[in-house]
Amino acid sequence: MKKALLHLNHALIKSLIQKDDVVVDMTCGNGYDTEFLASLTTKVYTFDIQLSALKKTKEKLTKYTNIDYIHDSFEQVSKYVDFANMYVFNLGYLPGGDKTITTKKEITLKTIKSLHQNIQLGSHIIIMAYIGHDEGHNEYLMLHDYLKAQKDYQIYETKALHHDLAPVLMWIQKKDS
Ligand SMILES: C[S@@+](CC[C@H](N)C(=O)[O-])C[C@H]1O[C@@H](n2cnc3c(N)ncnc32)[C@H](O)[C@@H]1O
Repeated sequence: MKKALLHLNHALIKSLIQKDDVVVDMTCGNGYDTEFLASLTTKVYTFDIQLSALKKTKEKLTKYTNIDYIHDSFEQVSKYVDFANMYVFNLGYLPGGDKTITTKKEITLKTIKSLHQNIQLGSHIIIMAYIGHDEGHNEYLMLHDYLKAQKDYQIYETKALHHDLAPVLMWIQKKDS
């Protein structure tokens, strides 16, 4: 289930971004999304609060010279990145890592709110939310409630129909009319 949605997520990202776009991986983790983004665009910023995740990813992705690794929380993104065509969130905890180091609902909501209010026309926010654990479920519900109330943006959500705890993919795009 997760694999199918990740596939959809990457297919969506690939269809939206151009070679010279600037993109931000808000949660570097094991670097799979960072690598995917770096293979598609000219500039990638990747954030994580875990230095070890950034270090491992950097060691793995030596062939890419277009990645800036930023050891900070994604809520600080505007300190480092003036503009991006896309912001990619893969929420939750690092697979195979410490499950207590997970994205936190208040920080995630605050960051999404700020991006949502400040992104330029045509920019995108992509979010993979994992609802199979309590913090992730509450995080998703907070985001969902906030985004549902935002009528001036195109906002989409998709999940597996027959699996209640399957991850949810969200896509926010600022309308151009
Ligand atoms: C599900 S993993 C990301 C998976 C990753 N995109 C990949 O392709 O392997 C979530 C990551 O978010 C990081 N994280 C949690 N809170 C964060 C925050 N406030 N800012 C940046 N990263 C955060 C965790 O340390 C963890 O590595």
